[in-house]
Amino acid sequence: MSSEPGYVLWFTGPPGAGKTTLAERLKVILNEKGSRVEILDGDEIRKGLSKDLGFSKEDREKHNERVIFVAKLLSRNGVVTLVPLISPYREVRQKARSEIPNFIEIYVRCPLDVLIKRDPKGLYKKALAGEITNLTGLQDPYEEPLSPEITLDTNKQTVDESVNTILEYLKFRGYYKG
Ligand SMILES: Nc1ncnc2c1ncn2[C@@H]1O[C@H](COP(=O)(O)OP(=O)(O)OP(=O)(O)O)[C@@H](O)[C@H]1O
Ligand SMILES: [Mg+2]
Repeated sequence: MSSEPGYVLWFTGPPGAGKTTLAERLKVILNEKGSRVEILDGDEIRKGLSKDLGFSKEDREKHNERVIFVAKLLSRNGVVTLVPLISPYREVRQKARSEIPNFIEIYVRCPLDVLIKRDPKGLYKKALAGEITNLTGLQDPYEEPLSPEITLDTNKQTVDESVNTILEYLKFRGYYKG
């Protein structure tokens, strides 16, 4: 059994900022180094564990709390746990930080005008057309992290550059040897 410490990389940021893209790229790299890695993607979890929940503040918090619970179980068993999750509320992220040892918060930042241009899922288009009314960052609040371990400006960096920034941080923490 691996004696490697588990840790959690918590990717927070608005829709389309790059959370899933970065987590998936990182998983490939860490797997190649022999780490056991799981991705808890907010979107995927909404199709299963959180399929009873909507997008009210209360439901968003419940959804995030379920993810915290699973991330805690995985990471304490040595699994590197990547969590791409909008997680718009500071208080819930603070709860994640206080409950999960080896918690690393990554703010995946991108300005709204670039997000609207990217719009990988067509959500901004729908929101601007009034078809949805609760898109985080546009209609619903997104509370920016105050002191994340890592901030990535994905409008200025390529995916590879963002991944390298994370790997450098993991090296600095002794979690990754390169
Ligand atoms: N430095 C970067 N890091 C990550 N993604 C980037 C970067 N530069 C450009 N992109 C692009 O931005 C888009 C990000 O989409 P992605 O689905 O990863 O966002 P997300 O944050 O997971 O959104 P959601 O919250 O809706 O799931 C992709 O098309 C990706 O190729
Ligand atoms: Mg995503």
